[in-house]
Amino acid sequence: PITLRPLPSKVILVLMSFCFHHAATSCSKSCYCSESETNGKTVRCSNLQLTELPQDLPNDTRRMYLDYNALKKIPMNAFAALPHLVELDLSHNELTQLEPEAFRGLGSLQFLDLSSNKLVNFNAEPFDGLRARANLTNNPWHCDCNMQMALPRVDLEPASLTGIVCHTSEPEEVGVNGLAFLLSDIDLCVLMKRTTDVAMLVVMFGWFTMVISYLVYYVRANQEDARRHLEYLKSLPSSQGKSEESSTISTVV
Ligand SMILES: *[C@@H]1O[C@H](CO)[C@@H](O)[C@H](O)[C@H]1NC(C)=O
Ligand SMILES: *[C@@H]1O[C@H](CO)[C@@H](O)[C@H](O)[C@H]1NC(C)=O
Repeated sequence: PITLRPLPSKVILVLMSFCFHHAATSCSKSCYCSESETNGKTVRCSNLQLTELPQDLPNDTRRMYLDYNALKKIPMNAFAALPHLVELDLSHNELTQLEPEAFRGLGSLQFLDLSSNKLVNFNAEPFDGLRARANLTNNPWHCDCNMQMALPRVDLEPASLTGIVCHTSEPEEVGVNGLAFLLSDIDLCVLMKRTTDVAMLVVMFGWFTMVISYLVYYVRANQEDARRHLEYLKSLPSSQGKSEESSTISTVV
């Protein structure tokens, strides 16, 4: 009779490590992956109508293309499992905002493409520790004092920031819309301060007018009162005389 001998434990270990190794480096189901000596592992998930990031990405990915999808947001630590990422393309998506720690752990990143999204407010937090060159063009950026103060705080390659072209601005009428903010030489914080100063002046003038009109009203009303009082006083002596007369008459009687 044939007896099945149990596999030696060494063989099992080798098989298991092979399986795990394969699982760890296998590619995402929906994406197209390739590997080359010079570029390392490249994952292409372009144009797949993705609304969420693919989950099963190999941790040694160096280039990742997620352009032309329908991503609306990048969750916190979304790429923390991909520490070797050098290039990340998120262009042509629906991103409206970036979570504060969206790109956490991407210390090796050299190129980040966020162009052609719907980004409005620029904050420094998502770019903390990111020394990459970023493409920020083709977004409806809102330029205001907050954005201006955030710009010097990012580590991105400075040329990246010239891609911020203002779509709207606050204050609205400074003529920065349609211009690359960094090249425009406009100080939005000073202008903001000026408009708040003007607002303060208007409010103070309003209060002043109210106080003055109240005083005028008060004085007028009192004048009226005083006049009536005076007339009353004028009419007093005669009536008092009459009553005195009548009292003397009564005492005489
Ligand atoms: C990827 O993950 C596997 C298993 O978790 C680990 O052994 C390997 O060192 C990781 N590779 C990289 C490049 O971080
Ligand atoms: C940035 O993105 C835009 C639009 O996607 C593209 O036309 C432009 O060439 C890119 N710029 C750089 C420096 O890669």
